[in-house]
Amino acid sequence: MKDIFGKALLDYHNDTCKEDIVTWTHISNEDTLPLEYLFRGFEDMPKIEQKALKMAKGRTLDVGCGAGSHSLWLQDKGLYVKGIDTSKGAVEVSKKRGIKNISLKPLLEETEQFDTILLLMNGTGIFQELSQVTTYLHHLKSLLLPKGQILIDSSDIKYMYEDEDGGTWLDLNQNYYGELDYFISYKGETEIPMKWLYLDFQTLKRACLATGLQCEKVMDGNHFDYLAKITT
Ligand SMILES: C[S@@+](CC[C@H](N)C(=O)[O-])C[C@H]1O[C@@H](n2cnc3c(N)ncnc32)[C@H](O)[C@@H]1O
Repeated sequence: MKDIFGKALLDYHNDTCKEDIVTWTHISNEDTLPLEYLFRGFEDMPKIEQKALKMAKGRTLDVGCGAGSHSLWLQDKGLYVKGIDTSKGAVEVSKKRGIKNISLKPLLEETEQFDTILLLMNGTGIFQELSQVTTYLHHLKSLLLPKGQILIDSSDIKYMYEDEDGGTWLDLNQNYYGELDYFISYKGETEIPMKWLYLDFQTLKRACLATGLQCEKVMDGNHFDYLAKITT
């Protein structure tokens, strides 16, 4: 990983560059991700993220914390929060922004236990592909304290396969439609392509039940997205 994402966060935080990140996938054209969005305050967060933050309680783990926006809000409210991220730049920025407990590590290497585990801004993306969902759910389950909760958001991206007449061009012989090859570039440099998974709610729920977990939808978002709560 070249950590282009982390470099962009550091530039934004240090005020050295205000260029946006450019993203695209194997099924969609270029889009821009304004860096400002990754430093959003509570008021600028989507409703499903605000809801997740309000539901957080006890020892909380913020998985893929990025610039630490969710962690910061919870820490300010007096919660014990730990942020983890695989991006060196993201961890550095989170530290600079005042997150007290922050660790550079992938989710599968976390071993502490928590009352609340947050995975936000398409939290299922970290699972990468459908075949990995069970592995991640088993691991997340092992990190839950008794009566703990996992709060995770994602989207049903079936709409991305619709044409103008409302028909879909989903090929049912292909992999699950939410599995995307995801590309990002910043200041002319392109990151090594990543796999990024969007999961519709029913598929997430089925995977949870198969792992001995309960899964309920907390609320729908504005655009095919949703917040789910997973418990033991
Ligand atoms: C879409 S960003 C979301 C950042 C932040 N949660 C937010 O809402 O602003 C996803 C983050 O997950 C991190 N990430 C990706 N895979 C990860 C993994 N296996 N374990 C921990 N963090 C991961 C990325 O480095 C990135 O910072």
